[in-house]
Amino acid sequence: METEVTKKVMLSGIKPSGDLTLGSYLGAIKNWAERAEQFDCYYFMADMHAITVRQNPADLRRRTLEQLAQYIACGLDPEKNTLFIQSHVPEHAELGWVLNCYAMFGELSRMTQFKDKSAKNADNINGGLFTYPSLMAADILLYQPDLVPVGEDQKQHVELTRNICQRFNGIYGDVFKMPEPYIPKVGARVMDLLTPTSKMSKSDDAGSGVVYLMDSPDDIRRKFKRAVTDSDTERCVRYDPETKPGVANLMSIYAAATGRSYDEIEAEFDGKGYGVFKPAVADAVVDMLCPIREEAQRIMKDKAYLESVYKTGAQKASYIAGKTLRKVYKKIGFVAP
Ligand code: TYM
Repeated sequence: METEVTKKVMLSGIKPSGDLTLGSYLGAIKNWAERAEQFDCYYFMADMHAITVRQNPADLRRRTLEQLAQYIACGLDPEKNTLFIQSHVPEHAELGWVLNCYAMFGELSRMTQFKDKSAKNADNINGGLFTYPSLMAADILLYQPDLVPVGEDQKQHVELTRNICQRFNGIYGDVFKMPEPYIPKVGARVMDLLTPTSKMSKSDDAGSGVVYLMDSPDDIRRKFKRAVTDSDTERCVRYDPETKPGVANLMSIYAAATGRSYDEIEAEFDGKGYGVFKPAVADAVVDMLCPIREEAQRIMKDKAYLESVYKTGAQKASYIAGKTLRKVYKKIGFVAP
């Protein structure tokens, strides 16, 4: 007798709050694209999360569509992955509300991202910024995923999702599947090239320490040329994030782009100095990003195709999300409509 093997489920999202960076790629999308065959995959543009910080409406709309084109250009085939826009699937907001009632004030207050964003946006510390992790828990739990591939900075939110999941299941039985975060070994925390002690971030006011997925090869080379290395006198390529954060960051980018280990990189640049190392990192990044950039530019021109992808994606996502939401409503005692 033939048994149908159901694939494990993988899900993740990115806020269209800025243009995608090398950090978004190495920390997240690259790892999604590499696993599309093994998993049933759901990837979305988290536009509802983006508005927790003020956005220019025209920019938000443009970046949401560009992000979809970039997902596809990064290798996420819409035939094999469900690609959608978060706000097109209302179950996210609906389950988000329910889960707000199962997320504790204390645990939401402890979130590093909430503290960082509140400090940066002191004039707009809104309720959405605070309850952001409940919406993220809803994004995840609606699809019952096994794995949630994210960069290091989102690990805390996935941990909180696990707590909410456990709390909810503890009261109502096994409603949600317990998700696991998947953090890549290299590239999980790409740092700013000019300030290698802070994360490379798409939402910050762009400095030349941020490499964007859509940067031209010249821009990329210029940014790596200016990258901070270190101020010690050793001036050699050695992995030590404590004393040489700039060099360690460049090494992790090179490692993620080429698949080489830190030992191999140290051996490759032994006695060569930063004048050889920095252009080599830039070349590796150019080789990795250029085909993506060209493909994304091509896809962006085909608005009808993009529309068909996000409409089909939302239908598929809604079907799964609706099933979970109905189960939740029944468990908590809402009357069926
Ligand atoms: P966001 O939009 O800030 O980042 C998207 C993904 O990119 C990773 N990332 C990085 N990885 C390495 N180095 C960096 N410098 C870097 N910058 C960003 C992030 O860890 C993330 O994986 N809340 C999420 C979006 C989201 C989501 C979800 C993710 C909403 N719902 C459900 C997973 C599941 C966020 O703001 O990511």
